[in-house]
Amino acid sequence: MQKILQVRTRSRIGIAFLILLLTMGTVNGQEKTVAMPRIVEKEGRHALLVDGEPFFMFGGQAHNSSAWPGMLPHVWYAIEALNANTLEVPIYWEQIEPQPGEFDFSFIDTLLIQARERDKRLVLLWFATWKNGSNHYMPEWMKRDSRKYPNITGKDGNPVDSPSPHAKAAMEADARAFTSVMRYLKEADPQHTVLMVQVQNEPGSWGSVRDYSKTAQKLFEGPVPEALLEPEVLRELNIPVDARGSWEEVFGKNADEYFHAWSVASYIEYVAAAGKAVNPLPLYVNAALRDPLTDPPANTYESGGPTDNVIPIWKAAAPSIDFLAPDIYLRGNDNVLKVLELYAREDNALMVPEIAGSGENVKYLYKVLEHGGIGFAPFGIDNNGQGTDEEAAERLLALAQEYRIMEPMMRKLAKWGFEGKIYSVVESETEHQYTIDLGLWEAVLSFGTGYRRNQSGNERPTGKAMVIKLDENECILIGTQCRFTFRPTGKNEGKAWQYLKVKEGWYENGEFRFLRIRNGDETDWGGPYMGNVPTVLHVTLVTR
Ligand code: DGJ
Repeated sequence: MQKILQVRTRSRIGIAFLILLLTMGTVNGQEKTVAMPRIVEKEGRHALLVDGEPFFMFGGQAHNSSAWPGMLPHVWYAIEALNANTLEVPIYWEQIEPQPGEFDFSFIDTLLIQARERDKRLVLLWFATWKNGSNHYMPEWMKRDSRKYPNITGKDGNPVDSPSPHAKAAMEADARAFTSVMRYLKEADPQHTVLMVQVQNEPGSWGSVRDYSKTAQKLFEGPVPEALLEPEVLRELNIPVDARGSWEEVFGKNADEYFHAWSVASYIEYVAAAGKAVNPLPLYVNAALRDPLTDPPANTYESGGPTDNVIPIWKAAAPSIDFLAPDIYLRGNDNVLKVLELYAREDNALMVPEIAGSGENVKYLYKVLEHGGIGFAPFGIDNNGQGTDEEAAERLLALAQEYRIMEPMMRKLAKWGFEGKIYSVVESETEHQYTIDLGLWEAVLSFGTGYRRNQSGNERPTGKAMVIKLDENECILIGTQCRFTFRPTGKNEGKAWQYLKVKEGWYENGEFRFLRIRNGDETDWGGPYMGNVPTVLHVTLVTR
């Protein structure tokens, strides 16, 4: 059975591979190879290099149960309507390995073919041992054998609906299956339609801070592993660098959670490292967040996952994971901006693989670009078998409008973000005016729908503005529901000034297309105004 499946899938992909080779041509008689996607860092910012150049994922994620051939038309409809360049889509362990050791990659083939037909990229989500803290995507043959593939035990001795990170047989089975997927991709996807792979989905446990089984307890009472006792790890966790001993001795009240984070991350490292050894695509793990501002107790969120407080533990335990990514379902600027700051680290590229994608959240795309992040995706883009495709698309219209103007300038935005040229502000409930320091100029942003000078905020705080500094006196402005103006600063402080030119237009294949020059009423009454639909302005300023 296994062979039959592999022969069948290989032959379809074999033809695709041959066509690719023929279309790639040769360089000096050598086959041109397509560069592997990879993440690079410079001064705390990151770029995802795709085909050798910075790439920003304007993405969208399918609903959990939409990764079946019959559902894909709805998913692609949503991706097209959203103007996204990348689909994030689950691949289910139960679908890929229906019997032990028998792999079925036909759905991966379908995805690859359909994505290429539409000129879209893919991020595959490996729904395996953990999906939102449970093991509901394990194959049936594992679900039926709870002795071999156990769940965790709660403090009260009762089983919890969450797989144990100490289940060696499950870990080895997951690593074998994941490696087969990665090996298959290496063979079937030489052009890297798949940009990255998410390993598991929101791992950790709800309902118990850790595993209290006998096996786990024994480890918990043993010494803390050396990798966690490195001074930089302890310092980040606010622990004296000479601390040694058991988990409780070293980590006190946080010992249970830290132990679970270490255990889950180590299991995932085992799986990720095995896959990466055969195909070194970027890998990441997504986090069900905790409140980033109040240091809540671990039994109030999903314990053991890469929440902000245990990032150093995850980094030490899982070096094969390129980055940890926040799934944003929190609300309010204070929370969301804090989360973005916490995950945009020198050692961690910022990507938002899931966000509730409508209303006020659209504005956070601007902040991810400013941080030099690598991607953004709303969760649940397709109709999910309910309502029409059009209704599903309508819910994401505001984001689709952003993607529509930004995707054609994607390579430039990714490069500008990486180089630290992007500045942004997002409207809050209380603040309606912001300034951005551009060196010789200060950009002043006022949110609100008023046409003239009086900007007193929008009905809902959905406004956003981005300034891309191209030169001392030259910038690009993008935004909605706001007005921009400027003030000379630094050595130009106090000088008179005016717009040299405010060009309005849009981007097509990375090139600016001119629509008109804004002047007169369109600049004189408190600066250029942006309405509900985002606009691109190319502005040059002069002092006199
Ligand atoms: C976060 C998970 O990662 C997603 O798969 C999904 O379950 C959403 N929550 C909620 O719909």
